[in-house]
Formats: sequence, C-alpha cells, structure tokens
Amino acid sequence: MKIIDGKAVAESIKSEIAQKVAQRIKQGKKKPHLAAVLVGNDGASETYVKSKVKNCEKVGFDSTLLHFEESISEEELLKEIKKLNNNSAINGFIVQLPLPKHIDEQKIIQAILPEKDVDGFHPVNVGKMVLEIPSLLPATPYGITLLLKHYNIPTEGKNCVVIGRSHIVGTPMSILMSRNTYPGNATVTLAHSRTKNLKEICRQADILIAAVGKAKLITEDMIKDGAVVIDVGIHRIKDDSKKSGYRLVGDVDFENVAQKCSYITPVPGGVGPMTITALLQNTLTACEMQEK
Ligand code: GUN
Repeated sequence: MKIIDGKAVAESIKSEIAQKVAQRIKQGKKKPHLAAVLVGNDGASETYVKSKVKNCEKVGFDSTLLHFEESISEEELLKEIKKLNNNSAINGFIVQLPLPKHIDEQKIIQAILPEKDVDGFHPVNVGKMVLEIPSLLPATPYGITLLLKHYNIPTEGKNCVVIGRSHIVGTPMSILMSRNTYPGNATVTLAHSRTKNLKEICRQADILIAAVGKAKLITEDMIKDGAVVIDVGIHRIKDDSKKSGYRLVGDVDFENVAQKCSYITPVPGGVGPMTITALLQNTLTACEMQEK
C-alpha cells in the first residue's frame, strides 16, 4: 500500500509554477493575478479563501480578496462580478461557494466571463470539458487527475466508481475519468444518494473516488483488494487527545481501508492541497490564454 502524498505533489507543482512566474517577469511580462470573492462569515469558506490568497503569494502571483457582507444583494454582487470581468489587471477570479440563500449561485456563476472562470464552473467551461475541448477544469477534479498522473496510476479500462454527484466534484470527476485521454478511459459509475447496493458497486471499483460529505462512510467491506482510493471528504470530529479538541477525517475510514488498497489519499494531506494547486495552474493558464 502506498500513501499518495498530495502535499508533496502540490509543493512540487507549485515550485514549477513559481519558476514559470519568475521566467515571465524576466521576459517583462506581468504576474498572473487571481481575485477571490467571499460573501458572509462562514468559517470554513474564510479559511479556504485565505489559503488560496496566501498560496498566490507563494508562487509570485498578485491576489485580491474581496469580502462582502452576508447581506449583499444579488444585484450588487452581479455588479461586482461585472467589475472583475472588465478589470484587465485580473486574469481570473473565483466566487467562494456556498453563497447566502437569497443569492442564486447559478446566476452568479453564469455572470463570470468564461475566460476568467478559474473554478471551471461556468456552463461554457463545463461544456468544453464534456466535449474534450481544452478549457479551465474544476480545481478539485483537475487536482485529482494531476495526482493520478504523478503516480502513473493506470486508468484505461478500469472500473472507476465516483460517489457523490456535486457540480463541484463528483459530476466533473466522472466526466474527466471517462474522457478519451490519460487519466481517463475508465468505465465510470456515478453513485449518489439514490443509489441502491452501494457496497456491491464499490466492491467492483478499481478506482474509488469518494466525494459524499459523510465522515468515514466508506468502510473496509466496500473495497476491492488492491483498489486505488481517493478521498475528497474533510470533516472535523471531536478528539479530546488533540490540543484543538478535534481531528480531521475524510469520507473513508482510512485506518481500516488503507491495508486493502494499492494507493490511498490521506486526510489531511491528500486531495486538499491539490485543489489550490490546480486553481493556481488554472490562473496561470488563464493569464497565458489572455495574452494570445
Ligand atoms: N466551495 C467548495 N469548494 C469550492 C471550490 O472549489 N470553489 C469555490 N468557488 N467554492 C467552493
């Protein structure tokens, strides 16, 4: 069993990005610039967005954090999106989800210029992904493909089971794994809350990607011997032995599942660091595309 070291892979890709930025500056080109929009005071969202901004600095990007009150109206937020679309200094931006209930997320996503949609959530980018036209890919699924590639994990002809059909992870992940390229060419099953016989379906998986949002849902009896297990979940569970009073676990019961796998991602330190790295890569790509 090999543990997939997402932290190390993320650091190595980030140092390649940093080198490319340094090269750009030598050539008299500008630094890529990412903006992040945060609405309200959700603790987890705030942590993610701050980490995205901090990572921009690490690779030499410019970054801007726009933080709005929970009470901002949909109309006002749409105006801010327009400003970012029209600001040529900004190459890409993200609107951290979820948004407050009074704001229609789809309306906001569809207002983002596809060329600046470094989250890859705009219907134009989703359509291009399905049609295998080069595009900005959603960060978490893209990060997972980078991990599979880094470890040379075979995917062609494999049974891949993706659990969870969110627009951010599960659905795009299932599409990427079925595309006619590497990583891809897998036979994909997308399981979700209405799936029957989840255990039997998971046991067929050569590659199992869990993006359900339920702590330790995936247990040892659901795993085929030698499977590759990718855990997208991240949950805080109470642990009095820790100074913080909690520890982080994924959707997979790591301690018991790991021994049956050929490869497995830990939580933390697996998929998480790759999401931000993929976002940085998308921002560099967006910046380069805008210069063409
Ligand atoms: N919320 C959870 N994951 C993501 C993500 O990848 N991008 C954005 N914008 N919001 C999220």
